[in-house]
Amino acid sequence: MCGAMKIAVIGKGGREQALIETLAASPVQPQLFSFPGSDAIFQTAQPIPVSNLHDLIGWMKDQKIDLCVAGEESYLVKDEGLSNLCSAAGIPCWGPRKESAQLEASKEFAKQFLMRHGIPTGRAQAVSNIEEARAAIGGQYPTVLKFDGLAAGKGVAVCPDAASAEAFLAEIFEQKRFGEGRLLVEEFLTGPEISIFAAICDERYLILCPARDYKRLKDGDEGPNTGGMGAVASRQLADAATMEVIEKTIVAPTVAGLRKDGLPYRGFLYFGLMLTPHGPKVIEYNCRFGDPECEAVMPLLRGDLASFCLAGAQGDFKPELITFSEGWSVCCILASAGYPASSHSGDVISGLDKAQARIFHCGTRRMGDTWQTAGGRVLAVVATGDTLDDARTTAHHEADKINFDGLQRRRDIAYKNI
Ligand code: AMP
Ligand code: GLY
Repeated sequence: MCGAMKIAVIGKGGREQALIETLAASPVQPQLFSFPGSDAIFQTAQPIPVSNLHDLIGWMKDQKIDLCVAGEESYLVKDEGLSNLCSAAGIPCWGPRKESAQLEASKEFAKQFLMRHGIPTGRAQAVSNIEEARAAIGGQYPTVLKFDGLAAGKGVAVCPDAASAEAFLAEIFEQKRFGEGRLLVEEFLTGPEISIFAAICDERYLILCPARDYKRLKDGDEGPNTGGMGAVASRQLADAATMEVIEKTIVAPTVAGLRKDGLPYRGFLYFGLMLTPHGPKVIEYNCRFGDPECEAVMPLLRGDLASFCLAGAQGDFKPELITFSEGWSVCCILASAGYPASSHSGDVISGLDKAQARIFHCGTRRMGDTWQTAGGRVLAVVATGDTLDDARTTAHHEADKINFDGLQRRRDIAYKNI
């Protein structure tokens, strides 16, 4: 490679900004680009002047981009797939191929994969219409209903009773809120949830720092499911014995299963787990880092993420290039009015310059000297500390300094479910 390593990061949210800032801090000092990016991202990375995936590939080829890093999931399964297109163009890509990304894009595909490889997960049945769904539920509540496609974290309903199940079934099959698709009726599991991340390079893997996210909108895990209202990350979230069981029964068999099924994988894989009384079980796979977990995990990363991802994308796994510090990291999300049902743009954000924390922009735009809301999740305010108490006190205290009309925020992030 002559000159600085050139990296293109694909995505536009707080997760991508956190990845970009961590890549930027790599000792190799890469030159960073982003598509579609955001005003906040463009403070660190240069915009890529294209408007679609095919032009993006052409641009990366022309500019001799050394590495493409997939941030969000949508591009992995769009058209021929970001990673597949990169591979055809000779561009190393950190992010899996379209066929492998079905683990996230299709809940039914993921469930079949889990069953085939004997990986612990809830029992489930796939159905195509309301009658089949009612039969599969069989009057057993709570029940869990999952739309079989990408739904930005909103395609899952945990239904305590028949009325809530009927309402969700009407959304799926009558109003077709997420378009055409099947539905998975899944066994209701209980226990604390944990997000486990692995960096996978063919048959090898590295388990990264675990995290916990807060999916419900309101304090006390009340209100609707969201993309995530906050996260806490630390290697101390799970003890060594639990991590060993997770590795042995879930991570290793997943990586082996991908190989067995001929599903190439180089990139981050997110395991959404529930620690049930019968051991950890998979509730979902995501073929990318979590958001907002990424905003919490990245500030704990030490080493050379840029070289790690480049080597991994080229099939050369170098786990020694990154480590995670022992402390804690807490991320509070500030969301706009109406989220998650809708979102509100154009509200002026105040106090950004006063907050002494890392701030990643999930959905904002810059208008002259001010920042405004431009999306559901607006900002991620992140603080690290040697202890959980340090990190969460600082995160909440600094988040208090930021305001905009209609701001929604949970006050119990990193207090509840620890
Ligand atoms: P998912 O999008 O599959 O992660 O589901 C969103 C949320 O729904 C999860 O974080 C859980 O809180 C809940 N959930 C998903 N599957 C189950 C299940 N089988 N039993 C209980 N809760 C679940
Ligand atoms: N935080 C959940 C997700 O990224 O899907």
